[in-house]
Amino acid sequence: MSRTVYVNGSYLPEEEATVSVFDRGFLMADGVYEVTTVIDGKLIDFDGHFTRLQRSLTELDITNPMDRDAWLEVHRQLVAQNGLDQGMIYLQVTRGAPGDRDFIFPDPETTAPTVVLFTQSNPALVDSPKAKKGIKVIAIEDIRWGRRDIKTVQLLYPSMGKMMAIKAGCDDAWMVQDGAVTEGTSNNAYIIKDGRIITRALSNDILHGITRAAVLRFAREAQMQVEERNFTLEEAKAADEAFVTSASTFVMPVVEIDGATLGAGVPGPLALRLREIYIEESRKAAL
Ligand code: PDD
Repeated sequence: MSRTVYVNGSYLPEEEATVSVFDRGFLMADGVYEVTTVIDGKLIDFDGHFTRLQRSLTELDITNPMDRDAWLEVHRQLVAQNGLDQGMIYLQVTRGAPGDRDFIFPDPETTAPTVVLFTQSNPALVDSPKAKKGIKVIAIEDIRWGRRDIKTVQLLYPSMGKMMAIKAGCDDAWMVQDGAVTEGTSNNAYIIKDGRIITRALSNDILHGITRAAVLRFAREAQMQVEERNFTLEEAKAADEAFVTSASTFVMPVVEIDGATLGAGVPGPLALRLREIYIEESRKAAL
């Protein structure tokens, strides 16, 4: 069945939804995005995603085309019109389509941002077979640009990294810069050693994950020890447990890092507990 998608103010069947060939998102990756999870037809951490969207747009000097309530309404309309129970809403805002290709930004008075949103159903998000087994990651060099805190649509290298992982018989890649792990291709990375949860501190080197913020808050509330600091690939390979977080995977246990098996090679107890807490608390607070 055809989805209803949102493009620049209209709800349209996906076959009829189009953007211009001159759109700067297409020509220059000049745009930002958000992925918000839906469970039980409700939005997980909508305000976190809205706040980060605003920040990404501000950093790129793109005017936010809608206020919070208007964004919320579009999200809810798409959930309702597509009967979405479990899955995600993808949102993208680009600097628009000025007509000619030009490195100079167009005048925002005459070129409006392009706004696209669509739903993606995934009934196996909460009850995920992968979370029961854990995932395997390879390590690759982090050669992305220096503003990874902005959630831009420049995803070529993360996408290549994921393919390198799949070719190696693994699920994902952790990126490493100067010997320290930055993050996964589309998630934040954590290790656990002697009961302490270790994850890289926030900076321009990583995306400020909305799931990361929630998981660290829940971990501290549950009296778990959290250290926000760099950790090396060697430390990671010798960890007791590891996991990644993102809107689309919640807390996903990692059981192998660059060929080294962690513990017994099955999801660790702390990672599984955090996954449970995250899903339970997020469900309660969903909008
Ligand atoms: N990715 N780091 C990177 C590089 C990411 O792309 C993502 C999210 C995260 C986690 O952020 P959050 O917890 O806010 O989802 C960290 C999304 C899910 C994606 O690209 O599909």
